[in-house]
Amino acid sequence: MTAKAWIDGVIVDASEARIPITDHGLLYGDGIFEGIRVFGGRVFRLDDHMARFRTGLSHIALDLPGGIESARRVVLETVRAHATQEAYVRLIATRGEGALGVDPTSCSHPRLLCLVDQIELYPEEKLAAGLSMLTSSLRRPPADVLDPRVKSLNYLNNVLAKLEAKQRGADEALLLNQAGRVAEAAVANVFIVRDGELLTPPTSDGALEGIVRMTVLELAGSLGIPAREKTLGRFDFLAADEAFLTGSGAGIVPVTSLDQRRIGQGQPGPIYAKLRAAFLDAAPGMGVPAFD
Ligand SMILES: Cc1ncc(COP(=O)(O)O)c(C=O)c1O
Repeated sequence: MTAKAWIDGVIVDASEARIPITDHGLLYGDGIFEGIRVFGGRVFRLDDHMARFRTGLSHIALDLPGGIESARRVVLETVRAHATQEAYVRLIATRGEGALGVDPTSCSHPRLLCLVDQIELYPEEKLAAGLSMLTSSLRRPPADVLDPRVKSLNYLNNVLAKLEAKQRGADEALLLNQAGRVAEAAVANVFIVRDGELLTPPTSDGALEGIVRMTVLELAGSLGIPAREKTLGRFDFLAADEAFLTGSGAGIVPVTSLDQRRIGQGQPGPIYAKLRAAFLDAAPGMGVPAFD
């Protein structure tokens, strides 16, 4: 299916969508975004995504004309235009066009964009074998530099961490915070399992408040798997029985090594498998219907 984009009030084939070079989203990364999945024709946890989008807008002081309600409608309309039951949605708000110079007050019309396309970050073989991770030499920025809980258009820290991992032969990057504690992966949250307990760093350690992360914690509760937030270090990953990543793009993906050292048995573990199966089962029922 051709990728579709909502831009300046119309839906077009994504290859035709253009933004002016003076948009501050492009010039300065001045904007925010959401990555959302469509499972079985339903937009997964749309209202949770919209709540995070609203928080991001208010953090960067961007007043979207029509507010969050119109952005929500745009998501549903673009998903309908894409006309597939399984898709990935990228919702973007930029500061809009303005004069050169970082000052956002010259931008009077924020721009809303929505792209709907297919996504497959990891082939089946990777899911079966598990990913390799590399501890990144880059640290996640602290909240007083650029709060990692804001899904801003400034993703160079994430991009460079991913590039470093790939260039050094790993699939994914593990990013630590300024204190050397685990924050998250380049564009996903991280979990480990140790002695039957599911652990993930608190988002105050430098992670996004991931929607899939939240879902996994809820599912663990309903499956009777003990789960909690805990500050983690590299030690905890190397001592873990299992590790996995979560994200809207990635899904739930096993990690079987860190810095070329095996995690657990070096293969996807049983708690990961249970949670992934529960997620795939529950996800379509947790969405807002796009086609009714
Ligand atoms: C930096 C970062 N962390 C974590 C995640 C996972 O968040 P979610 O589950 O809401 O997709 C993402 C999503 O793309 C991300 O960009």
